[in-house]
Amino acid sequence: MFEHVETYPGDPILTLNETFIADTRAGKINLGIGVYLNDASKLPVMRAVAEAETALLQSPGVRPYLPMEGAPAYRKQVQRLLFGADSAALAAKRIATAQTLGGSGALKVGGDFLKSYFPKAQVWICDPTWDNHRAIFGGAGFTVNAYPYYSAALQHVDFDAMLAALGKVPAGDIVVLHACCHNPTGADLSEQQWRTLATLVRERGLLPFFDIAYQGFGAGLDEDAFAIRHFVAEGIPLLVASSFSKNFSLYGERCGSLSIVCDNAPEADNVLGQLKAAVRRNYSNPPTHGARIISAVLENPALDAEWTGELNAMRGRIQAMREGLYAQLRALRPDRNFDYLIKQTGMFSYTGLTVAQVRKLREESAIYLLESGRICIAALTQATLSTVAAAIAKVID
Ligand code: LMR
Repeated sequence: MFEHVETYPGDPILTLNETFIADTRAGKINLGIGVYLNDASKLPVMRAVAEAETALLQSPGVRPYLPMEGAPAYRKQVQRLLFGADSAALAAKRIATAQTLGGSGALKVGGDFLKSYFPKAQVWICDPTWDNHRAIFGGAGFTVNAYPYYSAALQHVDFDAMLAALGKVPAGDIVVLHACCHNPTGADLSEQQWRTLATLVRERGLLPFFDIAYQGFGAGLDEDAFAIRHFVAEGIPLLVASSFSKNFSLYGERCGSLSIVCDNAPEADNVLGQLKAAVRRNYSNPPTHGARIISAVLENPALDAEWTGELNAMRGRIQAMREGLYAQLRALRPDRNFDYLIKQTGMFSYTGLTVAQVRKLREESAIYLLESGRICIAALTQATLSTVAAAIAKVID
């Protein structure tokens, strides 16, 4: 019956993580998957999360099915974080927001919604991007094209090439954009570049789909939402997929959201209805626990402030690791240029290491990074920094 089913070649991120877990070598270091570790090389349980969860567990509540679009309190807090408490679009009730199973769930629900209502549109993702973008939009039935983004020669975004390519994309096509902390490169647009891009998107009538999985890991919660808020202020209809996996360190709770910014409130009501239908067809309704923790934190000013402080400290630790790796690599290999490390932001850096060099690191030093050369800076620690720097310095030709 199933003899025609092919072997799954694996996922470049999640399968590598499985290989890492199965690796029995002492001292192995995982810089592959995008997770934030504390300086003890552990996934942190944030204090604000622990406090909120402890309070919840002291009076365990019933667990009804949530509405298809998710918990109202959670959706309200998502909107505040993404669009700002003073957002005119929110006040006008023209944003439809659904709780989703992580950022991937948001992309999937959004992809299904778009395929129903924009069946002729094509999707444009940046080169390179997070591997699952192509898979999710391809899986939703779209033709997926790439626009130029990162230039190894510039060690940064080739903004001219990006603009030139997007300037030729047909009106109504969907353009996937990383709002901050670009995955995999860590190279983001400047505020001025976002403004220029917004003008092009509006003039050409493109439909932006923002992915924001690292809000707070770049420059700050509000700063990292700049692109989204600017596009909304410019009156551009758009979609946003967001995730709390990283900034709440709640990966397995699968807490995300999909927001669609519409032209007016009646339109947003209809769109929310169709998001409900898309959710119902996929997984019926989202789970309760993680969303309860997150809304309990964000609704409580003291916990909210504690969480923001912890998030700021995480960002500071990532930056310290970035600068530490830069300093050590420069000292070990003064013949090479590592400026990309301090130009990039967020959890990741694109090292330019080749597949052969990445494999050598894995085989000879038990150091895992993605074969694209992406390294998770947020998983480096004071204890692993010099081992990693020495191993990288050694594999570079
Ligand atoms: C990553 O890019 O490593 C993370 O977003 C985890 C994932 O789901 O791929």
